[in-house]
Amino acid sequence: MDKKTVFSGIQASGSLHLGNFLGAIRNWVTMQNEFNNYFCVVDLHTITVPQDPGTLREKTREVAGLLFAAGIIEENSVVFVQSHVKAHSELAWILNCITPMGWLHRMTQFKEKSSKQKEEVSVGLFDYPVLQAADILLYDTHLVPVGEDQKQHVELCRDIAQRFNYLYGETFVLPDAFIPPVGGRVMGLSNPEKKMSKSEEKKEDSIFLLDTPDQIRKKLKKATTDSLKDIRFDENRPGVNNLLTVYQLLTEKNREEIESHFEGKNYKELKEELAETVIESLRPLQENYHELAGEEGYLDQMLSRGAEIAGEKAESKINQVWEQLGLR
Ligand code: AMP
Ligand code: TRP
Repeated sequence: MDKKTVFSGIQASGSLHLGNFLGAIRNWVTMQNEFNNYFCVVDLHTITVPQDPGTLREKTREVAGLLFAAGIIEENSVVFVQSHVKAHSELAWILNCITPMGWLHRMTQFKEKSSKQKEEVSVGLFDYPVLQAADILLYDTHLVPVGEDQKQHVELCRDIAQRFNYLYGETFVLPDAFIPPVGGRVMGLSNPEKKMSKSEEKKEDSIFLLDTPDQIRKKLKKATTDSLKDIRFDENRPGVNNLLTVYQLLTEKNREEIESHFEGKNYKELKEELAETVIESLRPLQENYHELAGEEGYLDQMLSRGAEIAGEKAESKINQVWEQLGLR
């Protein structure tokens, strides 16, 4: 039987963190045998806010390298850079022409990001979800594994696909989001009311995948908790709840086991044990990453192979779209 298709994307806007890993990448790795997979470093999304060219170039490679280091394998998955496949921009333009502005005005990520930038906000940032829809629809994607923050964008993609199919005839597969039951929203360490992010100003909020053991210990030591004592899962205590959730995801123990394990212990002990757990969990990934970074040409070879395979699939879809619209 033919395997279904998975597509997901990740920005090169900064360093990958534990939220990216637990909310998305880890699931990509474990699910990859069951599906045909495309994983895309979305550099065109990244430039919707200002970027330094040198840093962007470097981070694009780092993100791709980390995907392989985390266990994405070429037998099951195609890893590529978005700007290497021209059809993404081409389809985004076409979808722009059938997407009502009102749909985009409702996107909460745009509201959040644009409120931080005021008058500097680019048209590209507003249009971000349409480019994301193009990414997904080019590959006849069935499933989009993402963190919770991307749910609205995947739903919008579905709406755009439906509208295109209605206007021009059956063309696109309608995708579903896959959001993990736990880990879809890992919170910041110093501000557990906000999600962990790649943002540079908030370095102490995130554990980056390439952080050293000392950095990890320091960040966790300073993580915000509360003035209570008992260590329990409780959504009303976001700091402790987040630390326990990360512990749960990394150890794969159940919540009762974890609560009884920490009974009578204090926050310092929780943080220390969590730090060692995080360090050990990231160790193989970090070792793989450094090994891979030392292999001259490996990454370039993988990315050019990825762009070729993805390009072929995307090209046949965009040709179909042109035909349907009367552009060919
Ligand atoms: P981004 O860093 O925005 O490119 O996100 C890449 C993937 O990681 C997407 O699937 C996001 O939903 C997911 N993600 C980002 N931040 C978090 C977080 N704090 N918790 C869980 N998933 C996240
Ligand atoms: N917007 C996504 C994020 O920031 C990244 C992304 C771009 C994406 N294109 C995608 C995710 C297609 C899934 C599918 O997390």
